[in-house]
Amino acid sequence: MLKIAPSLLSADFKQLDQEIQAVHQAGAELLHLDVMDGHFAPAITFGPPLIASLNKPAGMEFDAHLMVQNPERVIESFFGIGLDRISIHVESTIHLHRLLKLISEQNILPAVALNPSTPLESLEWVLDDVGMVLLMTVNPGFSGQSFISTVAPKVERLKERIAQRGLSVEIQVDGGVSAKTARSLVDAGMDIAVAGSAVYGQTDYAAAIRALKEA
Ligand code: DX5
Ligand code: ZN
Repeated sequence: MLKIAPSLLSADFKQLDQEIQAVHQAGAELLHLDVMDGHFAPAITFGPPLIASLNKPAGMEFDAHLMVQNPERVIESFFGIGLDRISIHVESTIHLHRLLKLISEQNILPAVALNPSTPLESLEWVLDDVGMVLLMTVNPGFSGQSFISTVAPKVERLKERIAQRGLSVEIQVDGGVSAKTARSLVDAGMDIAVAGSAVYGQTDYAAAIRALKEA
């Protein structure tokens, strides 16, 4: 069953707790937290103090997507603030394996993220050490960008590699996912859909989440 991770970046910042509660009640399993540093990604969003202040509904997972250059400098500030998953971009660090180990030692699910142009080969020596791979289908920076359809075959190829190696690694797809694009992504192997505009950009969150799950 497809899990939905609404991205807080598209929520109304004046009422974050209500916005989180609303998507939880509407059936979202995760809350996606886009952390950008204005360096790895061309925008600055929010960081650990804000995440630490959010109320996490029981049963919901907080899923941080770090779009930060050299995350090893700041990784410890993301520990102990209620995160269940942390995704590190393979392009952002030369110490990827060390970071994944540090994250799993905190009982947080370690995950890796790939930009649209980054090949799956970069996962070769870390696939055994992660619980999730985040495939970006837009370039990091903003919500509301168009889905890059040429990247879609990556999902299917990654699914095959995970199966070949007998691993249980979830595939998360992030960027421009909508009820229109979801069908083929689920067929290809998407387990978790990140949705900014497709949930928080809609008036009825429950209907929006249902549309994604039923797509
Ligand atoms: C982009 C972020 C995405 C984005 C998704 O850098 O990583 O999570 O907020 O927003 P939509 O679903 O509108 O593309
Ligand atoms: Zn994201």
